[in-house]
Amino acid sequence: MQGLFITFEGIDGAGKSTHIEALAARFRAAGRAVQVSREPGGTPLAEQLRALVLHADMDALSEALLVFAARRDHLMCTIEPALRAGDVVLCDRFTDSTFAYQGGGHGMDREVLGTLERWVQGPPAGTGGQLRQPDLTLWFDLPPDQAAERLAAAREPDRFEARDTGFFRRVAAGYAARMQQDPGRFCRVDAARERSAVWAAVEAAVQGRGWLA
Ligand code: TYD
Repeated sequence: MQGLFITFEGIDGAGKSTHIEALAARFRAAGRAVQVSREPGGTPLAEQLRALVLHADMDALSEALLVFAARRDHLMCTIEPALRAGDVVLCDRFTDSTFAYQGGGHGMDREVLGTLERWVQGPPAGTGGQLRQPDLTLWFDLPPDQAAERLAAAREPDRFEARDTGFFRRVAAGYAARMQQDPGRFCRVDAARERSAVWAAVEAAVQGRGWLA
């Protein structure tokens, strides 16, 4: 069985979380071993880094360095071994979040982010392999004011969620730019619809690639 790496992206409040669990259940019912994970996080070390990124004040470069450090540990200890074993890895956020939040939201230099991406996701030197990227990225696209309304009803905001809609508009533009660079990997899901319609779009994207009957 070929390993599969699927990531879920979108601004805070776009509603990706429930669909991750539903897709995991769908793959398990089809007989696949599934690992559900998240970024920043997914290993004990990366979860410690997550607590720092989400709750300590710092500049965008420090954020980027910490999320990529967490990502490195997550790749080495969880994602790569799972993919080698032929598992399905469903991950709540990955590098597109860094390009969207630190790049789009905070205006960080994309060249610097691209360098970090190559360091962290690159193959061992001399092997001639490719960067590790998701096989599919589901981008839950929701207008920032709607996302803010959903969040306000739900919970206390963390550092990122407390930002204004201008920030999230830049994050959304960051996602759009990222999708333009690699359209084959991305599927944009219109997240402004009812949950059942959003789920149907998620299922169709995965079925369309022949990964589920
Ligand atoms: P999120 O994954 O949405 O978790 P929760 O639903 O528990 O709040 O929150 C993680 C936050 O971290 C989110 O606001 C985006 C931010 N983030 C970055 O800024 N850069 C990154 O590279 C990643 C992975 C996340």
